[in-house]
Amino acid sequence: MCGIVGYAGRVGLVETGTAGRAASVVLEGLRRLEYRGYDSAGLAVMAGKEVHVRKRAGKLTNLTALVEADPLPDAVVGIGHTRWATHGAPTDANAHPHLADNDRLAVIHNGIIENYRSLRDRLVERGHVFRSETDTEVAAVLLADNYRRLGGDQAGTGVLETAVRRTCADLEGSFTLLAVHAEHPGLIVAARRDSPLVVGLGDGENFLGSDVSGFIDFTRRAVELGQDQVVSLTAEGVTITDFGGLSAEGREFTVDWEAAAATKDGHPSFMTKEIHEQPEAVRRTLQGRLDVDGSVTLGGLGISDEVLKGIQKIVIVACGTASYAGQIAKYAIERWCRIPVEVDLAHEFRYRNPLVDVRTLVVAVSQSGETMDTLMAVRYAREQGATVLAICNTVGATIPRESDGVLYTHAGPEVAVASTKAFLTQVTAGLLLALHLARLRGTGDPIEISTAAAELLEMPEKIQCMLATSKERIAALAAAMADSTAVLFIGRHVGHPVAMEGALKLKELAYIHAEGFAAGELKHGAIALIHEGLAVFVVVPSPAGSPILHAKMMSTIQEIKARGGRVIAIAEEGDDVTAGWSETMLTIPSSIPLLSPLLSTVQLQLFAASFAAAKGLDVDRPRNLAKSVTVE
Ligand code: F6R
Repeated sequence: MCGIVGYAGRVGLVETGTAGRAASVVLEGLRRLEYRGYDSAGLAVMAGKEVHVRKRAGKLTNLTALVEADPLPDAVVGIGHTRWATHGAPTDANAHPHLADNDRLAVIHNGIIENYRSLRDRLVERGHVFRSETDTEVAAVLLADNYRRLGGDQAGTGVLETAVRRTCADLEGSFTLLAVHAEHPGLIVAARRDSPLVVGLGDGENFLGSDVSGFIDFTRRAVELGQDQVVSLTAEGVTITDFGGLSAEGREFTVDWEAAAATKDGHPSFMTKEIHEQPEAVRRTLQGRLDVDGSVTLGGLGISDEVLKGIQKIVIVACGTASYAGQIAKYAIERWCRIPVEVDLAHEFRYRNPLVDVRTLVVAVSQSGETMDTLMAVRYAREQGATVLAICNTVGATIPRESDGVLYTHAGPEVAVASTKAFLTQVTAGLLLALHLARLRGTGDPIEISTAAAELLEMPEKIQCMLATSKERIAALAAAMADSTAVLFIGRHVGHPVAMEGALKLKELAYIHAEGFAAGELKHGAIALIHEGLAVFVVVPSPAGSPILHAKMMSTIQEIKARGGRVIAIAEEGDDVTAGWSETMLTIPSSIPLLSPLLSTVQLQLFAASFAAAKGLDVDRPRNLAKSVTVE
């Protein structure tokens, strides 16, 4: 939530000759981080002994147009921000950076400062004036106040860091703050608590980003920071300290994501591109981890076999799409491992006093690894003595760092706000975990397990074939349905989370009423929603793999049709019964039931992307959303 970039370089670097390139580096970083929020964007560069700011409400293109019309001076230091609004409407005034200390101090912020009201009142009493409604400006003004009380630049070179530390001590909530001051022209001081920040190490220049995509065009060397740390960044070096001022260290790592991964590669949207990357993404999740006989090698898992053998209960915590992946994992783990599994929305988990102890494995599923609700659930679970395993896509993110072990999905960067390949790879990782636990604990039918393993290894190819044949058909269906104002999705067994995921995709991308139900639940109330012409997507169980559920679904289809509903079925190739009863049938290759979400979900993703495009909406940046939800 909110993207942050910082850059400290020097003149004479690379292609820019003698001019500083701060503005262009920061704008490029913001372009890559725009998925984190696009309510406004802004940047500040330091030239001479002045801070120059440009900021605009709306998408980044508004800011770039402003910078073109009113260019910034060459500069060697800059900070930039792309906003997902929390406090205050998305206006120019509320856009970051926020200025204080007679416009010599600029601050950007990600997170929420929970005590901003009382701090603001205190600062107003001291005569400070505010120009925005944001909590960030409170941090900026408080920092300026502390800076002046410490004596400003008269107090020596470390004064800005000291002022930042003193300010952090007064702030409650989560934050990443970046500050630049005209009296310290080559320096950025950053601080983080419960909010992401990564350092990029260049040659004669250094970077800061909410995640590595903020500087991936310029360097692959990155440093992961710990909790409650302050970073002082110049062109020459990076100093990390804790909030008490003691020296601290970060962990250096190399970013293996391809910079090219952040281009659309000929696709109309990042989402469509990422849908088409799914065969490769699933392949990477499986790579080196699974044998046809069902044996699983999870190198670097970080949790011993002994601990996993002793687990008596599993709780999966996640939000949104990731929680639906968790629900699919539940079916597989309970069937193959006979361990009870609960799936909790991470934001509900710790508030219901859950039964969690040292024999509980908590599995936190998160693409970004920064979702605050999930992070808080992880912390709570560890406090209760549970072992925590993260299933995560982002190497070095806070959730895997704070967990006992991690299973990385290796999906590659997901830029579109709506999750696609992250979901498929989370499902794959959940299935790998289930197979691993079954082997370790000697549970599950060995034949079923080796069949599942063999089929899982074939999945990338099946997804690939399906994508090649469905795209145009689904685009035509979506275009024909573009005027629909409501759509229902139903499924049974693992088809239920798939239905909910299909509905979520449509809600978030097309802003229409879309609801996912367990098919058996329809007759208990929701069937009243069905009327003449209403489209109902039905995720049909495999006739061979789940004959009983298939038969029950045929009855549900009859009930929908009897009330005038239009059935659009997602069903296996060769399922002639469903074909006969549905108005449209989107086919998927056959698979064992537990693996079928890896196929059926893709059809619903394609539909949502095509439907939103047919309505002329921005597929990659749906309204009101941000990619990474780092507030509770
Ligand atoms: C929907 C979507 C969200 C995320 C959720 C969790 O398309 O992307 O529902 O799945 O916000 O995010 P992560 O996985 O980053 O924890």
